Amino acid sequence: MHLILAIESSCDETSVAVIKDGVTILSNIVASQIESHKRFGGVVPEVASRHHVEQIIGCMEEALESADVDVSDLDGVAVTYGPGLVGALLIGITAAKTFAWANNLPLIPVNHMAGHIYAARFVEEMTFPLMALLVSGGHTELVYMKEHGHYEIIGETRDDAAGEAYDKVGRVMGLSYPSGKEIDEMAHLGADTYHFPRAMMKEDNFDFSFSGLKSAFINLVHNAEQRGEELIPVDLAASFQHSVVDVLTTKTVRACKDYRVNQLIIAGGVAANQGLREKIKSVMADDLPQVKVTVPPLNLCGDNAAMIGAAGFIEAKKGHFSGLDLNAKPGLSL
Ligand code: KG4
Ligand code: ZN
Repeated sequence: MHLILAIESSCDETSVAVIKDGVTILSNIVASQIESHKRFGGVVPEVASRHHVEQIIGCMEEALESADVDVSDLDGVAVTYGPGLVGALLIGITAAKTFAWANNLPLIPVNHMAGHIYAARFVEEMTFPLMALLVSGGHTELVYMKEHGHYEIIGETRDDAAGEAYDKVGRVMGLSYPSGKEIDEMAHLGADTYHFPRAMMKEDNFDFSFSGLKSAFINLVHNAEQRGEELIPVDLAASFQHSVVDVLTTKTVRACKDYRVNQLIIAGGVAANQGLREKIKSVMADDLPQVKVTVPPLNLCGDNAAMIGAAGFIEAKKGHFSGLDLNAKPGLSL
């Protein structure tokens, strides 16, 4: 398996990539639909599917062209089959199946979350055992990996995902969707003056909870509105971010200690958070300097097909192929 064409369409990005030997990106085309969803304050599934239909063929052509690869050079087609929006996933899956069938190529089904972890492999080789902190709009998980393609979820959110909390709080602050990046930028201009709770931080497990923080935030804003008090937006952002980052960092570092890992990977859309990147790196350097910390570059933290190609390469190596009856699995877990 030398050259893989990879397709990602699980949410609001249509993306197609060509990956060489699992670790080199020859092309990675990402067509974002965010502008279309902004006015609704979130991703509208029907709108997402429609956009994927419009974008997918062009993205495939562009990925092959900019990689300067001929269809006959390809060895396989990797595609996200879950988790995600069913209609959105089906567009990518149908495109992948059709392309694989027409060109007599094997079809490699890939879990979107495995893809997020494998984005780290474009930065440096994985060193097992490793821990991955997966933080996105739909997931917050600590995943232990003792070898390639083997995932054990040792902790996860009991309610909202970290990215979801950012987006919901952003809405209350009047920011546009998705608001993680903007809150992150504001947080750097403010200070943690409101001291929100750090849920489950001291508990002896690796689970998370962000809905209490979200409620505390909303209550503070509503009470201030009723009393006619002014809150300082950058301090609100900083206080919220400090709470999220504190909890994520504390639990992740403890998981790395308990599981005696050699590497920590931070992945998913929220891994783009500057506050989180800086805090985890500095605490790990102090507490566990022997553990390698790998964070993908910003463009590979959000949804993209390159990461699907990287994870697909490992699946193919393990002989995990699928027939043309491959179906979308919206609730797929690792
Ligand atoms: O992985 P992703 O692109 O899509 C999913 O699979 O969910 O993650 C999107 C999430 C959104 O909730 C967005 O607000 C959040 O990642 N996000 C951030 C930042 N950049 C994106 N959250 C915090 N800080 C950021 N800099
Ligand atoms: Zn994602």
